[in-house]
Amino acid sequence: GKKEAALLREEIKKEVLSLKEKYNKTPGLTVILIGEFAPSQIYVKNKEKNSKEVGMNSNVIKYQSNVSEKEVLEKIKKLNQDDSVSGILVQLPLPDQINKEKIINAINIGKDVDGFHPYNVGCLSSNTGGVVPCTPLGCLYLIQSVEKHLRGLNAVIIGRSNLNGKPMANLLLKEDCTVTIVHSKTKNIKEICQGADILVAAVGVPNLVKKDWVNKNMIIIDVGINKVNDKIVGDVAFDEVKQKVKAITPVPGGVGPMTIACLLKNTVESFKRHLNG
Ligand code: GUN
Repeated sequence: GKKEAALLREEIKKEVLSLKEKYNKTPGLTVILIGEFAPSQIYVKNKEKNSKEVGMNSNVIKYQSNVSEKEVLEKIKKLNQDDSVSGILVQLPLPDQINKEKIINAINIGKDVDGFHPYNVGCLSSNTGGVVPCTPLGCLYLIQSVEKHLRGLNAVIIGRSNLNGKPMANLLLKEDCTVTIVHSKTKNIKEICQGADILVAAVGVPNLVKKDWVNKNMIIIDVGINKVNDKIVGDVAFDEVKQKVKAITPVPGGVGPMTIACLLKNTVESFKRHLNG
């Protein structure tokens, strides 16, 4: 993940530079961060650092956790109209008084670099373009760094969230995989996983996938981030599984850096669409 993300950032850096030379303009990412949730503070700091490293403008707008929904909606409206803002990201989760759907729906679909707006969700589902969510996009790049052609492969995704499981399924369908989503009510999860060529674990259960769930040809992408005794672990029991599969991403240092690199990519794409009107 670290290596692939560094390669992607290098490409983006070159593109940002050439866009600057050609148009005398710089892509800009604005992140809205509400409250003090510690993981969000860390993610946003990393997004800001990475944006600056590739030469993009980065702006973080911080609110106290008791900010009103109205104030945030008004800010989004201004950012939608601001030509210097290519991408808008509202870091989740949000405090209870703020309706997540209302906030996501308020973001201009062309600046929705998370790909969470229902329009972009619909585009991915109907295979008609749109912005693809950063984590599943990063996962796809990681899978393709090991296996270029995915046609006909069995992909099993653990977890059916809007953030990861569902967009991941759509992306892999687009690559002609045979896709199965398993979740907490699925029977025989272990047996279904055993037959996978690609296994994406995105469920938030520490060390769920064990060595008897996998096979030697499997590519595993671990999206889980779980805290166990002050240590961050994924959804896959990495140490016992790593020798038994073709490829596996670690946690941390796997999907995380790719997610941020894909966010930068989505922001540059958004900037280019804006240039083209
Ligand atoms: N919180 C955790 N992951 C994400 C993400 O990908 N985007 C946003 N906006 N918030 C998050």
